[in-house]
Amino acid sequence: MSTSLLHKAYDSRLFNEQGNDLVQQISHYLAQNISGEAPTMNAWVDPQEEYAFWKAYTNENHPTPSFFETVLKRSIHIHHPHCIGHQVAPTVPVSALATLLSAQLNNGMAVYEMGQASSAIERVVIEFFAETIGWANGDGFLTSGGTLANLTALLAARKAKASSDVWNEGHGRKLAIMVSEEAHYCVDRSARIMGLGEAGIIKVPVGDDYKIRVDLLQQYYNKATQDGFEVISVIGSAPSTSTGIYDDLEGVSAFAKANNLWFHVDGAHGGAAIFSKKYKHLVNGIAEADSVIIDGHKMMGTSSITTAVLFKNTADSYATFSQKAQYLWEQNDDPDWYNYAKRTFECTKSMMSLRFYAILNAYGVAFFDDFVTTLYDSGRTFSEVLKQHPDFEIALEAQSNIVCFRYTAGISKAKIQEVNKTIRKQLLEEGEFYIVSTVLKGEMWLRTTFMNPFTTEAHTQKLIEKIRTIAKKL
Ligand SMILES: Cc1ncc(COP(=O)(O)O)c(C=O)c1O
Repeated sequence: MSTSLLHKAYDSRLFNEQGNDLVQQISHYLAQNISGEAPTMNAWVDPQEEYAFWKAYTNENHPTPSFFETVLKRSIHIHHPHCIGHQVAPTVPVSALATLLSAQLNNGMAVYEMGQASSAIERVVIEFFAETIGWANGDGFLTSGGTLANLTALLAARKAKASSDVWNEGHGRKLAIMVSEEAHYCVDRSARIMGLGEAGIIKVPVGDDYKIRVDLLQQYYNKATQDGFEVISVIGSAPSTSTGIYDDLEGVSAFAKANNLWFHVDGAHGGAAIFSKKYKHLVNGIAEADSVIIDGHKMMGTSSITTAVLFKNTADSYATFSQKAQYLWEQNDDPDWYNYAKRTFECTKSMMSLRFYAILNAYGVAFFDDFVTTLYDSGRTFSEVLKQHPDFEIALEAQSNIVCFRYTAGISKAKIQEVNKTIRKQLLEEGEFYIVSTVLKGEMWLRTTFMNPFTTEAHTQKLIEKIRTIAKKL
């Protein structure tokens, strides 16, 4: 029997009240942050202290609007133009609204009847990606994040290229993949999950330009086969995470073709360059890939987490998993595009297609061009500006919206890393700017990713001044 508590929990008038209040709060947050009027990002709170805060909070009786307000205040504000850290998009509000709708509808998506509109919309979104890449018979689906997407694509690679039926019979020969040493760690993780082990992950060095050494691919491949490995795939990064530098996809593709390998492009961050008239040349060769992944929550402005897994050939998108699930579908090998769980890692998944479609519907494809182009312009401009300041050095010329640099004025080489570590720590603790760090060829660098189209040169000039002020006090 339903209790009064259950009635209260589902009360539509209460939802209306609290929902309106939340929308007001988020609107205020957006106005304050996008304009940069909010004084700072959040000041740092030690994890143990934050935990203690929320632990105590559960014992107090807070009205829901005040709970939301407290979460807002104590969270990182990635819509602030001083937030130039990791690669998470400041969500386009219409995409957030779509997520709210999907969160409340909670259509399960595993099979068509569990989410009719969102399943059909997913196909439209996938076709939009495939056509932009330039594929006539492309296909795919959406999944929960780049990490899972890379794993899914590599499982498809194994299905297509391994000489044994690993899915049904387990491993026969030792399998291997080839990838740049600068690739995102999730590629390494995927390979280990697939049982390839450390030896099955052939890390190819990058050159001074941080691109995979295409000239070494054949040599590394020959060595692996001599050592008894069956190489199934080569992966191109578009771009790699630390530097934002794109691999030479045409070069990698030619190598893949010559050796009958599956060519996968990890475009989690910058695959969306396909939408930029100015920057699409960075992904020349992407149409030759067998599979590509592109994150929405990075360079396309959607809320997290939502990733497109795309295949050049429709059939490959159905081949990855082969599973009997009579309570969901009758035939395992039907290419029924609308029963997505046959092809995705997830069974239940969120109605993520709405997050892309809401943007497309409201602003058209031009939004994605503007977004990528503006952010890449910002990264390149910052890289140029830094070159004009002799007290800073850049690790390499920015190709995208990721810029690695450090403060060097009057600091001995031995101390540069230590000083920059302290700079980054102080920035984090004070909360006025959010930037991160990375290690390139064994050395620590400050790292910025321009994710906010409203971050201007005036903001980055302030960052430069702030770093100088911190450094001078050290
Ligand atoms: C190149 C690349 N691939 C994959 C990933 C993982 O994507 P996600 O965070 O969506 O799992 C990232 C994340 O930064 C990335 O930069």
